Amino acid sequence: MKKNMINDSTNVTDYEIERYDAMRDLNLKLYRNCLHYNGDIPTAVGSADGQHALSGKGQWTDGFWPGLLLLAYSGNQDDLLLREYERYMPFLEERVNNDSLVNKSRGYMDLDHDVGFIFHLTAVYHYLLTGSRSSRTVGLRSAEVLLGRYQKNGSYIRAWNDWETDTPQFRQEKKGKAIIDSLMNVPLLFWAAKETGQSCYRNAAEAHATQLARCIVREDGSTYHTYNFNHETGSPIGGSTVQGYSHTSAWSRGQAWAIYGFALAYRYTGNKDFLLASQRCLQYWIQSTLPEGDAPWDFAAPRNQWLPVDTSAMSIASCGILELGLHDSVDGELQEVAERIISRLLQAHRPPTSPYVHAFLLHGSVGPAYKEGSQEEKDRKYIYSNQSLIYGDYFLYESILRLQPSNILLPWDF
Ligand code: GLY
Repeated sequence: MKKNMINDSTNVTDYEIERYDAMRDLNLKLYRNCLHYNGDIPTAVGSADGQHALSGKGQWTDGFWPGLLLLAYSGNQDDLLLREYERYMPFLEERVNNDSLVNKSRGYMDLDHDVGFIFHLTAVYHYLLTGSRSSRTVGLRSAEVLLGRYQKNGSYIRAWNDWETDTPQFRQEKKGKAIIDSLMNVPLLFWAAKETGQSCYRNAAEAHATQLARCIVREDGSTYHTYNFNHETGSPIGGSTVQGYSHTSAWSRGQAWAIYGFALAYRYTGNKDFLLASQRCLQYWIQSTLPEGDAPWDFAAPRNQWLPVDTSAMSIASCGILELGLHDSVDGELQEVAERIISRLLQAHRPPTSPYVHAFLLHGSVGPAYKEGSQEEKDRKYIYSNQSLIYGDYFLYESILRLQPSNILLPWDF
């Protein structure tokens, strides 16, 4: 444990002082953001200068801002934050219906495997915090959507739907595609199993996580972003990427989802294979980060002068490491690893405090990152690196809450 630099006989560490100071700033921003968002939701693609643009409703990221309000409520016990969250409940109720005509008319994506990000962090957590029956219903409906994507042939959860921009080949591939991110959605199924007593939810969650531990984690502990199965027979085909540098590379946010997702799967099952998978993924992370502690957007991207980092991967990884530390920590060793990442985020990647800056972090990468000015970048509608991402903010806040001394209820505590 890093001691205080001025007086090493105190139990207060420099990390704690830094986080305490940061948390005041994040809370101030969060209250100000209530005014800025005013019932709306930031976009999934973020912004370079820390000004989160609106209207992002209808994306995989719908849960992060309302979820942040609940995290802050859990940490601060201020009813105002709960009231602010409740403004989003009608939207979440409409969203979980997944009516294709409504989705089309409002520009919402049809729901896919990311229902966990949307509804676990909101409806399920709201139910855990308040006992709200309507939120319980929304949570269970979202779990049904996820369960409906489970493929018995192959034992995996299908990730994505068809998109308008798909090539015929990609559309075909997606029929049998699982992705690493989905590990963060399966806790929704573990919750539904516990809540309803129906084992089908738990069986699908455990089978999917088992399949990913086998297929998507490589020998060296790195991860494929996606894994393809033959959608008819269920036989494994091989790994590939959509948001990473190459099919054989390790996209750092995927690696972070793996550390965190497997650690959570262990929490709910006690299955040692998941603990081991999380530990192996963490080992790869530790040996692959940049000297100053940053995660490049992809661990196999060329390490030349132009190498965007992904702060969202770092904040997710720090939560995952803290989760892993609950189950496997030698003398707070893992806490120290997470504290170093959080400290790096706070020191090197925080935007200035200003009423016009909403983000908690700069320098996220949606992925794949293409150099500014390159043809690939010009062909895209948005810039995918050097962005403030609402999910980076969410997991930074969660990681700091996890380190606070009082027992704060998190969405994962059921
Ligand atoms: N789950 C989508 C992403 O991490 O970009």
